[in-house]
Formats: sequence, structure tokens, C-alpha cells
Amino acid sequence: MAKRVLLCPPAYFDVVDQKNPYMSQKLPVDRRKAQEQWQALCSAFEQTGCQVETIPPAPGLEDMVFAANPVFVGFHEGVGEFIVPSRMVHASRRREVPFYVDWFRQRGFKIIELHLGDEYLEGHGDLLWHPDWSRVYAGYGFRSTQGGVETFRDAMTKLGIPVVPLHLVDPYCYHLDTCFCPLNLEAALVYPGAYAAESLASLRGFWKRVHALTADEAHKFMGNGIVANGSYLTPYITQHLEGILRGEGLEVVIVDTSEFEKSGGSLFCMKAFLP
Ligand code: ARG
Repeated sequence: MAKRVLLCPPAYFDVVDQKNPYMSQKLPVDRRKAQEQWQALCSAFEQTGCQVETIPPAPGLEDMVFAANPVFVGFHEGVGEFIVPSRMVHASRRREVPFYVDWFRQRGFKIIELHLGDEYLEGHGDLLWHPDWSRVYAGYGFRSTQGGVETFRDAMTKLGIPVVPLHLVDPYCYHLDTCFCPLNLEAALVYPGAYAAESLASLRGFWKRVHALTADEAHKFMGNGIVANGSYLTPYITQHLEGILRGEGLEVVIVDTSEFEKSGGSLFCMKAFLP
């Protein structure tokens, strides 16, 4: 699936405040190790045939490395390439948004500004495309709010893009990308415990094969992997998950993200797919 990705070097990466349960231990970040792990991620992308683009990191924005969140990146016939800027819950993360918006504006993306008021919307933390870009799955409950997702849905509906709201209930799966990963047009990894019952039922309806992750797999970010040209990049693997991936024709590539997990993020959070 992935061909071109946007990443942000972790020059100022740190754990400052507690934005999610993984950050409660306030584990000190080893910046050199973080830099090495980030570099290894870039190499893994290149080895799987993906082109890596970068945005310069800004001082004081400790989470800017999580490129998935500040904007939603889209493509649709008629509109072309577009972004929807996020309204992040945390102040330091709200300051990332203009940097990302400028990056995309300079490259000709159309900017679709939503009137979010007091609602929140956290980009591809909570908004995931179907692999053929025909529909968007939208998580809410911890970071993006239901109202934020509804405003997003209204805007996408006008463009002819259906949006499927999904209510998240596990604080360790505070973003949809921690408990849901499309593998191809028919199959997805899902951690069922992360969803309200009706949302899980609705999500299942869109897939021929839903492969359930265990709580342990999900909480170790094994559902936060990246499908890239026949590979599944993941921070860890179990026999169970390896069997699933092999069955879907995907090769496992391990990329260590231990420093970034201290901040509650792993591979999927660290990039934005570009159209
Ligand atoms: N520390 C970051 C935060 O809590 C982690 C973001 C993870 N990103 C993601 N797409 N799940 O905002």
C-alpha cells in the first residue's frame, strides 16, 4: 500500500507531559537511540521501495515526530490532493499544525478548513483510509471527539467520501491507529476490546476477514504497523500475528520503536501516507 511517506526527524522528541496512559511512567527518552531508531525506520521504508519525504522538526514541539496526527491527507477525483488540518487536544501538539499545513500548501495540496469550534480531530491517529481511498474509518472518544468526527463526516460527504464513525473505549487504544490496521482490500487487523459493541459490529461489516489481535499485541503496538509493498513493518511479533500476516501474503519486518513507545506511539503514528 504505502509508496510515499512523510516523516519528521526526532531532533526535539521528548516525553514532557502525560498525554496518554503510556506516558504516565515519564520514562526518560534516549535521544540518540531515538534518532537511530528513526533512521532505521527510514531505511526500512526505502528497503521496501517507499520514498521518504521529511518536514523539518521545530524546537519545543516534542511530539512533532508523530507525523500522522497534525493533518488528514486525502485524495479524491475532482478535488485532487487535499488536507484537513487537525485540532489537537494538547497545546504543544496544536502548535505543530501550522508547520504541517505550510509543508502541504507549498506542495499544492488544497486545504479544507473545518469549523471545529471546541471539538477535536487528530488526523490519521483517528482517521484511516480504506486501502483504495474509497472510505474513511473515524475513531472518537479519547482524542478526536464525536462532534469533531461528525463535522469531518459532513465535509467529506459533500465530496462523496463516506465516513464510518467508531466509538473507542480502551484508554490504551486512545487513537484508532492503535487498534485497527487494514492489510489489503479484504482483511484488517482489529483489537475488538477497543470498541463499543455497535462500532465493532459496524467495522466488521466492511471486511471479508477481520483478524483479532490480543490485548497484549494491541498494547504493544503490533496493530500500529505499516503495510508497505508486501511487507508489514511492526515493532514486535508473536507467532499468532506472524501466522495471520503470512496468510495475507505479508512479510514481517521488525523495526524497533522502544523510545517512541514511551510517548505512546509507534510506527504508524510516525508517518503520513502521501497520495
Ligand atoms: N505522544 C503522542 C500523543 O499522545 C503520541 C501520538 C501517537 N500518534 C498516533 N497516531 N497514535 O499525542
